[in-house]
Amino acid sequence: MLRRTHTCGELRDSHVGQTVRLNGWVNSYRGHGTGLVFIDLRDRFGITQVVFDGEDLGQQILDTADHLRNEDVIAIEGKVRIRAGGENPKLITGKIEVVVTKFELLNKTANPPFLPDDTGSGGKLANEELRLTYRYVDLRRPTMQKALATRHKLYQVTRRYFDENGFLEIETPILYKSTPEGAREFLVPSRHLPGNWFALPQSPQLFKQILMVAGCDRYMQICRCFRDEDPRADRQAEFTQIDLEMSFVRREHVIEMMEGFVRRLWKDMCGYDVPPIQRMPYREAMERFGIDRPDTRYALEITDISETAAKSEVAFFKDALANGADRPRFNSKRGVVKAIRVPDGAAKLTRKMTDGYNEFVRGFGAGGCAVVKVNAAGEFETGIAKFLASVKDELKSVLKLAPGDTVLFVADTYSVCTKALGELRQVVARDMGIVPKPGSEGGPWNFLIVVDFPMFEKDKETGRWVAMHHPFTAPNDDQAEAFVAADVNDDVTIEGIVSAGYDIVLNGQEIAGGSVRIHDPRVQSKVFTLLGLTPEQAKEKFSFLLEALQFGAPPHAGIAFGLDRLVMNFLGTSNIRDVIAFPKTQIGQDLMTGAPGPVTDEQLKDVHATAIRPRVP
Ligand code: AMO
Repeated sequence: MLRRTHTCGELRDSHVGQTVRLNGWVNSYRGHGTGLVFIDLRDRFGITQVVFDGEDLGQQILDTADHLRNEDVIAIEGKVRIRAGGENPKLITGKIEVVVTKFELLNKTANPPFLPDDTGSGGKLANEELRLTYRYVDLRRPTMQKALATRHKLYQVTRRYFDENGFLEIETPILYKSTPEGAREFLVPSRHLPGNWFALPQSPQLFKQILMVAGCDRYMQICRCFRDEDPRADRQAEFTQIDLEMSFVRREHVIEMMEGFVRRLWKDMCGYDVPPIQRMPYREAMERFGIDRPDTRYALEITDISETAAKSEVAFFKDALANGADRPRFNSKRGVVKAIRVPDGAAKLTRKMTDGYNEFVRGFGAGGCAVVKVNAAGEFETGIAKFLASVKDELKSVLKLAPGDTVLFVADTYSVCTKALGELRQVVARDMGIVPKPGSEGGPWNFLIVVDFPMFEKDKETGRWVAMHHPFTAPNDDQAEAFVAADVNDDVTIEGIVSAGYDIVLNGQEIAGGSVRIHDPRVQSKVFTLLGLTPEQAKEKFSFLLEALQFGAPPHAGIAFGLDRLVMNFLGTSNIRDVIAFPKTQIGQDLMTGAPGPVTDEQLKDVHATAIRPRVP
C-alpha cells in the first residue's frame, strides 16, 4: 500500500475511473453514522477527499475509518469518481473524490498539540512558541510548505543564474578563526589545542577574497552565517547568504551582475519584470530620508530648514544652530534644523501620536520634536507657531506647505537630527496608513541601489572609528591616494572619505550589501591603523589575508544577499522565522531541540573549558 500512484494534489476529472493509491495525513474527517466516512487526506502537494463506503468495505474497515482522527497517517487504494456531493472550488482536486477499496492505518498519532491548519482552530494560529516547539507539526501547514518550496525554488534559480555566468560554488569552513568583522561571534573550543577557540563565520568574507587570490575568478555560495546579535523581525543569529565575489572588476561590473540576478530572480519567482534600478548616493538618502535604506514607496521627505530656522524666534533652533557652525555642511556634529511635512497630518495625526513622537525622538538623543499644524486659513497653530511668525511665508515656500499639513521639527546635530527624523518618518508613515501592505505575493517592489557610503563612522559608545561596511572595503577609486595620505587624527577629512561599497534596498529593507575590496596592502594597513589596530594586532588577526594580498591579489569585489529576506519578500511576511525551517526565538533558543542546553563536566574537560555556572540563590 505504500507506493503511492499519485500525490494528494494531483488528481483531476481526467483521472475518473482510474484506481489510485494515496498516502498522507488525515486533515479532517466526517463520519455520518450512516456507513459513510469522509476523510480529507493531506500531503505536501494538496488535499484529496476520500470516501469510505461501508457497503463495499466491510464493517471492520469502516470501524477503523470511523476512529480515524486528525493527523493519523494512512494509505488508501480506491477509484476516482466525480465528487458526488458537488465540486469544492477551494481545492485543486475539488472536482473528484476517491472511493476507498483498500485501506491501511500506517501510524496512529498522539493527540496533536494543535492542528496544522493555516486558520488554526477558532480562526487563529496556535501561539508561535507552541508552533516552534512542535515545528514538525507546524511545518505541515500549507503556508509553511509553501515557504519551504519557495525557498527551494530560490536556491535553484540562484544556482542556475550564477552557473550560467561562470561562477563556481565553493564551500568555505564553518569552524573558522575569530576575526573582528562587526558583530559578536559564536565560539567553539578546540580539543586538540587547549585554550584555543574557533569562531563561527559572520560571513565567508575573508575566504572569498582569498579564493580570488587563489585564481577562482568568480565564486558563489549559499552559505550559513552566524552573528551573536539579538534577533529581530528580519534578523536571526543564524541566517543564510547568497555570497559572491568576482575578480578583475570594479563597482559597475558587480552592480550590473547583481541587477541581472535581481531581474532573473523576480522574473522566475513571480513573473515580475524589474525595471532598471535607480541609484542613490548615501548622502542623498540621508538628506531626503534620514536613513541609508530608505523606503521610497511613500514621500514624507526630510528638509533641512536651517537657513530659515536661523531667522526665526525659536530659541532651541538657534541653540542647535550655534553648535559646530564652522564645520562642513554634512559634518555629523554641525548643528541643523530639519523638518518633515506631513500632508493631511492635521486631521490624521492625533495629539497622542504627536506627543509620542516627542518621546520617540528623545530615544535617538534629540531634545524633542516640535509640531506645527497648518489650519484651513493657512495659519500656523500649536506649540512654536508664534515664534515662527517672522518666517512663516519662507517656511511655507521651502516646505511647500498646504492647509491641513502637519510639520514635525527636530533641531540638533546633523547626525542626531538625521537619525531621529529618519526613524520618525517610518512611524509617521505607519500612523498615516500610507505604507503599502505586502500582499500574499509581496510587492509592490521598490528597489534602490545605494552607493558612495562613507568609509568610516564613529562608534557612539567608544568614540572610535569603525568601518561602515567592513575593514576590507576599498575607498572609491578617486579617493585612494587621498586616503593613504590623510592624517588619521583629521576627523573631518576621514569622515569625508567615500567607499566603493553598495547596498541593494527593497521597500526600505537592506537585501544585499557589498563592496570593492582593498587589494593594495598600503590601503589595508591604513584602514587597520584607523580602526586602532597596531601592525602587530592586525598581523595576528588577519595575517593570512594580509599575506595572501602580497602574493598577486587581483582587483576584486563582491556582495552578499540576505537569502532569508529575499524569501520573506516573495511570501509577503515580515517575520523571518516564517521562512526558516528551524528558526531560533527572540532569545536565540531552538524550542524544538531545547538548544542551547547544558553539557557535562566530562564534555567540558575534553575541550579544556570550565563553566561559570549561574549561582543558585
Ligand atoms: P552584510 O553584513 O551587509 O555583508 O550582509 C549581507 C546581507 O545579509 C543580510 N543579513 C542578515 N539577514 C538575516 N539576519 C541577519 N542577522 C543578517 N545580517 C545580514 C542582509 C545583508 O544585506 N561579507 C559581507 C558581504 C560582502 O561585502 O560581500 C556581508 O556579510 O540582507
